[in-house]
Amino acid sequence: MPKPTQQTRLPVAVMVSGTGRHLNHLAQLASSGELPIEICLCISSRAGVGALQFAGHWNIPVEVPDPARDLSPEAYGEMIFAMLEERGVQTVILAGFLRFLPIPARWENRVLNIHPSLLPAFGGAGYYGRHVHAAVIKRGCTLSGCTVHYVDNVFDNGPILVQRSCKVHASDDSDTLASRVFEQELIAYPEAIRMHLARMAESER
Ligand code: GRF
Repeated sequence: MPKPTQQTRLPVAVMVSGTGRHLNHLAQLASSGELPIEICLCISSRAGVGALQFAGHWNIPVEVPDPARDLSPEAYGEMIFAMLEERGVQTVILAGFLRFLPIPARWENRVLNIHPSLLPAFGGAGYYGRHVHAAVIKRGCTLSGCTVHYVDNVFDNGPILVQRSCKVHASDDSDTLASRVFEQELIAYPEAIRMHLARMAESER
């Protein structure tokens, strides 16, 4: 059997709407060779967000399609996936992306998302960012965490790849809980991407 001389890197796009801490972390792991991905494109739903500075730092090309949100969800999705296919992207990583993105059947199990709760709890429309953590605290949960899942056409609904939990303290507010959950997110996303890579390799055999 021929010995691979160079590890193949999966071409991915990272889609963002905000600060881009996951984008930065994944770019670091890609750059150091710890994660065999190549971030070929960063797509943002908004202009001027912090994530775009990280994209610039890592020399990742950026697109901000339809920033005024003129397009219907269907037209937006078609445009995004045409752009991804044109650039040879094989997997999409949603990282704090806050616009609804319809997923065509041919992209099933190739779009990943991270959500800052233990799904199916505290998922669905309206549960994003601090709203999730505030709801977890209000309900009196003693455990929270994060979930990485494949994306389908229902919010926070697709098959789960990785979950990691952390404690909720009585003294928590949504900021302190968000920080503790985010520590777990930084472990969960690379772990889920590795799992996805293994599944892709398995399906190609
Ligand atoms: C994370 O908390 C993630 O769970 C949620 O959005 C946040 C992303 O943050 N989906 P950032 O934009 O990567 O800093």
